[in-house]
Amino acid sequence: MDIDQALTDPAFFADHDPHPLWQQLRREDPIHWTEGRVRPFWSITRYDDIVAAFSEPNLFTSSRGVVVPSSPELEREPSERMGAGQMMIMTDPPLHGAMRRAFNRLFLPRAVGAYDDPGRRLVAEILDGVLDRGTCDFVVDVAARLPMARGGDGEDLLSVLGNAEINGRQLTEGEIFHNGFQYIIGGLETTRNAISGGLLALIQHPADCAKLINNPSVMPTAIEEILRWSSPITHIARVATRAIEFRGKPIREGDMLALWLPSGNRDEQTFDDPYRFDIERTPNEQIAFGKGEHFCAGAHLARLELRLMMHALVHEVEQIELAGPVERLSSNLVAGIKHMPVRFKRTHAAVA
Ligand code: HEM
Repeated sequence: MDIDQALTDPAFFADHDPHPLWQQLRREDPIHWTEGRVRPFWSITRYDDIVAAFSEPNLFTSSRGVVVPSSPELEREPSERMGAGQMMIMTDPPLHGAMRRAFNRLFLPRAVGAYDDPGRRLVAEILDGVLDRGTCDFVVDVAARLPMARGGDGEDLLSVLGNAEINGRQLTEGEIFHNGFQYIIGGLETTRNAISGGLLALIQHPADCAKLINNPSVMPTAIEEILRWSSPITHIARVATRAIEFRGKPIREGDMLALWLPSGNRDEQTFDDPYRFDIERTPNEQIAFGKGEHFCAGAHLARLELRLMMHALVHEVEQIELAGPVERLSSNLVAGIKHMPVRFKRTHAAVA
């Protein structure tokens, strides 16, 4: 299989494990010129290089696209219509910092703490609806329903955006639209896939699953390992604002870089035994949430959702196994699971 074709073919990701390709690139050509289907770009596959690119927001801009275009139509779409310069994820410093300070208070640890109780109730409600059935499609019946976390006693996102001031002015309608959309999109697919990917990893690693059931205090490291292992966002792109030699490769102004996050998360130069799923892994500086300026604004919420769901599952379910083939999404952007039939037996221990 030709690496360039594979990495830019969404269907490849549905039917194949992309990790051997990334491993080959990390070893042989870690900054790899990739002849994409729509436009060529540099594939960055090593952890240190991905982190370096994330750390230079003015050299590697977010305002000219943060994903590799998957169709000629998207490539032709003016970047402003896609939210460039308006949606926080597609802005650069100093505007980015001003937006982040204005919007993000709903997603800081204290505000997210208010979702703990309502989130726990929502998880219990979702599981209650399926656990007595003995089987379900975990993605459709469980994981996809949680990221709509509602409740809490705080303000809502649209009011925060509607009242936000950036550099002494209110947001334009376009900015409100794009940023509202961004928080919703950012939170749906990703968390769902981390939850499904996490459960799949636990099913495939029964010893780790037993460890988690017997010792819930390992939950925090387990969550980080689930994030490293599942890496729900497959790539994030940047565009070079000027010519530069990057690890010996001649990057030109306007070149796109694809930072392959799951590859960085399996880099053997950073992680001991990276292909081993280890719920007690420490240290674990996984980069599933990115790094630097644009580090995921919803990371606290995502971790809370993962913790609540995993906690409830390990307490409420004994014996869980796959009941049919796992179907993956055709996408080189989101490492998604579309369907995951599971069979389980409910325990009757109370959820602590
Ligand atoms: C496991 C779940 C999640 C993963 C793996 C994830 C991953 C990421 C990554 C890799 C970035 C960096 C983008 C970049 O550098 O260009 C990011 C940014 C972002 N994420 Fe998440 N995300 C998750 C959950 C969430 C949730 C729950 C929300 C919403 C509440 C959210 C909202 C955002 C926003 C608004 C940004 C842009 C931050 C900025 O530009 O400063 N994400 N996310």
